[in-house]
Amino acid sequence: MRLLIRNARIALPSGELYLGDLLATGGKIATIDREIDQPADEVLDAHGHVLLPGVMDPQVHFREPGNEHKEDLGSGSRAAAKGGVTSFLEMPNTSPPTINAVAMADKLARAAEKSVVNYGFFIGATPDNLDDLVTDTLACGIKIFMGASTGNLLVDREEDLENIFAHGSSLIAVHAEDEARIRCRQQEFAGSCDPASHSRIRDGESAFLATRRAVGLSLKYRRRLHVLHLSTGREMRYIAMHKQPFISCEALPNHLFLNTDAYARSGALVQMNPPIRSEEDRLALWEGLRSGVIDCIATDHAPHRLEEKALGYPRAPSGMPGVETSLPLMLTAMRDGHCSLAELQRWMCYNPARLYGVKNKGRIIPGWDADLTLVDMVHEKPVRNGDLFTRVGWSPFSGWILTGWPLTTIVGGRVVYHEGEIRPNAHGSALQFSSPTPLEEAGGKATGSA
Ligand code: DOR
Repeated sequence: MRLLIRNARIALPSGELYLGDLLATGGKIATIDREIDQPADEVLDAHGHVLLPGVMDPQVHFREPGNEHKEDLGSGSRAAAKGGVTSFLEMPNTSPPTINAVAMADKLARAAEKSVVNYGFFIGATPDNLDDLVTDTLACGIKIFMGASTGNLLVDREEDLENIFAHGSSLIAVHAEDEARIRCRQQEFAGSCDPASHSRIRDGESAFLATRRAVGLSLKYRRRLHVLHLSTGREMRYIAMHKQPFISCEALPNHLFLNTDAYARSGALVQMNPPIRSEEDRLALWEGLRSGVIDCIATDHAPHRLEEKALGYPRAPSGMPGVETSLPLMLTAMRDGHCSLAELQRWMCYNPARLYGVKNKGRIIPGWDADLTLVDMVHEKPVRNGDLFTRVGWSPFSGWILTGWPLTTIVGGRVVYHEGEIRPNAHGSALQFSSPTPLEEAGGKATGSA
């Protein structure tokens, strides 16, 4: 397969835009030049739009198997493609949960059949599946829910956590909320139907206690740690003080664009774990990204149906969809001067791949994988529920007018999404993760050119 993209403004890792053509052959970026005059199976005229490396979303919940009424690997991956996301890493709190080799093989087989973008899966930790965690070779990492959330995965006892950190070498990704504190706070707020209590029950202290605990274990065992969805300035500053090449963390658009004022507008729709926080925390997360303490952006795409959300607080499930709005949100933030194109590429494309040991993705460089997204940087339109590909059909950002929308998404040198449609026969591939994840490479600063 040879794909020729003409007249693109090609985003170089430095953030500069290079006006020219790009030829992809055999799934790789073959040539970038002012004008490429070579035969191709498909020629795409970019009409001067910006060509970015495909986004990698390193935290999504696509609900298959078990909760396909909310999402499945087909609908979730199509939503990803529509959002310019060419690779995703999916969480183990499905039903049954992904906690052993059988469940992992099942998910990989389902994704091979259905996913239109590239995929990888976490294996979930339980108090008694250490052998499965240590022998696994296929997962992108081990997921530990230190505080209970959707599903029944939980590891909160010290000896169980120690055991997991002490054995094996693969990446450990933590949902850092302190279960004991949350349980106490739930008693204190029992009977509250105000969704805003969610942020007070699962408060910043709960997040901080668990993050500090996970960082302590990582330092003790020198074990590769990724702290998922940082939500507070305090956690960010704590990680800044203890940052090591083997400790990384992420932030979500939910925490970067929403604060607790959103409860008054959206109620339980914006209920999630860890919860949305204060304006001060929101600004601190942006600061953490810019200073390099926070390495990357994930969405924690966690779809629940509107009927389920309509149960109201506290019965509504926690989580919100996000995989198809993250890039437009960040492009809008870039237009408003909150970040540069080099930073956006680093946080959304290159660093997620680097952190999980996925080679040759996230930069537009000859020889690297042709996972690309063509975006219209000036197209301004509202997020509309009816336009979304996620099966749940809603977004916490519905009505927000965003500037910068994906037009075409390319996975392995093939167009999978183009102007509103998923191509027939579109498919992704299983991502390969190097283990243990090499993180000695300095800070992910974008260099290199075409
Ligand atoms: O709000 C959340 N929803 N946080 C999680 O950790 C899980 C997720 C889900 O799966 O619904």
